[in-house]
Amino acid sequence: MLERIDHVAFAVADIEVAIQHYTTVWGLSLAHREVVTEQGVEEAMFRLGESYLQLVAPLSPDTPVGRFLERRGEGLHHIAYRVASVSEALAEAVAAGQRPVDVTPRRGSRGTLVAFIHPKANHGVLVELVQDAGLPPGQPGATQEAG
Ligand code: CO
Repeated sequence: MLERIDHVAFAVADIEVAIQHYTTVWGLSLAHREVVTEQGVEEAMFRLGESYLQLVAPLSPDTPVGRFLERRGEGLHHIAYRVASVSEALAEAVAAGQRPVDVTPRRGSRGTLVAFIHPKANHGVLVELVQDAGLPPGQPGATQEAG
């Protein structure tokens, strides 16, 4: 059911500072930036081979990522797996005993359809299932499609 790693996500407090860090320290170039209001985050993506590194910064403290930062500080947040169908993969995972965060798939960045799986029954790792869905993109971040 899992095709490949779509992205690994890091929770950061200040997206500008973190973008600067990944650009200068690791020499990556920004591939995509987007505000996903539904998830309460601003995202920045760096392409790395077939996958991405994703920075997620909360739009306010009262969001899932805002609460994560409050509890745990910056760091690894989730891993996203590419799947052919989020609804099918979600159903399979739930049938196998996983606990969904999203009961039905919702819009992610880059026009994708996504669903999160709770870390509790997954050895502490928050999982995001990602499907290419060609949905209309959300609000662009300050610098969209920079490279
Ligand atoms: Co993600």
